[in-house]
Amino acid sequence: MKVLGILMEPFTLQSISTTKTGLVWLLRAGWMAGTLPILIASLPSSHLNSFRTLLLGFAKRGKIMPPSSHKFTVPQSFFLHFYMLGVVWTTMLLMGTWYFAYKVAPLSAESLSDSAAASHLTGGSHVFSLHKSRFPSADDRFNVWKSAFLLLLMEVHVLRRLNETFHVFNYSPSARMHIFGYLTGLYFYTAAPLSLCTFCALEVVTFAANQVAELNVEGQDMLSITDFDLWGYVKPITRLGWCQWAGAAIFAWGWLHQYCCHAILGSLREHRDQTAEYAIPHGDWFEIVSSPHYLAEMIIYAGLLVASGGADFTIWLLMVFVVANLAFAAAETHRWYLKKFEDYPLNRWAILPYVY
Ligand SMILES: NC(=O)c1ccc[n+]([C@@H]2O[C@H](COP(=O)([O-])OP(=O)(O)OC[C@H]3O[C@@H](n4cnc5c(N)ncnc54)[C@H](OP(=O)(O)O)[C@@H]3O)[C@@H](O)[C@H]2O)c1
Repeated sequence: MKVLGILMEPFTLQSISTTKTGLVWLLRAGWMAGTLPILIASLPSSHLNSFRTLLLGFAKRGKIMPPSSHKFTVPQSFFLHFYMLGVVWTTMLLMGTWYFAYKVAPLSAESLSDSAAASHLTGGSHVFSLHKSRFPSADDRFNVWKSAFLLLLMEVHVLRRLNETFHVFNYSPSARMHIFGYLTGLYFYTAAPLSLCTFCALEVVTFAANQVAELNVEGQDMLSITDFDLWGYVKPITRLGWCQWAGAAIFAWGWLHQYCCHAILGSLREHRDQTAEYAIPHGDWFEIVSSPHYLAEMIIYAGLLVASGGADFTIWLLMVFVVANLAFAAAETHRWYLKKFEDYPLNRWAILPYVY
């Protein structure tokens, strides 16, 4: 464990700032690299037909992927891996950021003094003194708590999705997705939670490593269950601004509708062994669009964007990727429904009512 502390020593203010710039640009480049091909393939030009077909081959999954194109594919049930990764990674980031916020970024004058009192826990740690100077302003401390809040919302989302892959969806054994789509999914659930907390992610990692190293030196005396201050951890969240609560309300709206739409999709096959059976979904937003669960996902990410305050370009790029990716898949799903069912309701839009 000591090794961990020594490894983090060279993380000076300067190197944190340089590494953070690199991380932010890496994430932004990733979102742009994922979005640009979709935008290009969506341009209405016949010259792009072969490029569009190629990209669709990568993006298709489940019912819209023809059985003939099963080369380089994995089962669609591997969606489970995305949410296992999403839950583990988001939980780690959330716990680290929340603890860091509690210790280093108090949101009130009263907790400022708590933080000073807590400095004995970290002794003469370079990292702690580094953090005291790193987050001196109220704005910075607010942003750390905002990151914890965004991660909390993400956690609520990935936990439900994990439960649904186990208990709601009954993936057909013939439903596949391209290996490229699979790798994109793994990237997504690594990069999306990270994009929500780039403001303090490196400081959190440095702080956590330092805490682990000091725990090793000072032993269990540092930890006492009676010291656990639950209200102290929760109270600063209640001090967040209207933007965060408006974003959380939008997030909840999308979250609840996605929950309903997934329940409808999961109930379409009357018998769990009828896994190759497809039907026209009815109820909730299915009455107006063909892929309301994709629309709800867009609303969930729009909620995260609003809760972030809208000033972080990385979160904007994440949102644009989600919209482009799901609109692309929704268009193909809509075409599939119209082709598959003669009695498919013609008043349904693909994904965005009265627009698309
Ligand atoms: N954030 C992102 O960029 C992103 C990307 C991809 C997905 N997602 C989210 O992940 C969730 C699942 O996406 P997905 O693409 O896997 O959804 P999907 O293709 O609609 O499949 C979901 C489940 O419903 C079943 N199903 C779908 N339509 C059916 C029908 N007409 N009749 C009977 N069963 C039907 C599927 O069966 P089969 O297995 O037989 O197809 C599968 O088990 C969505 O809410 C989406 O928003 C998010």
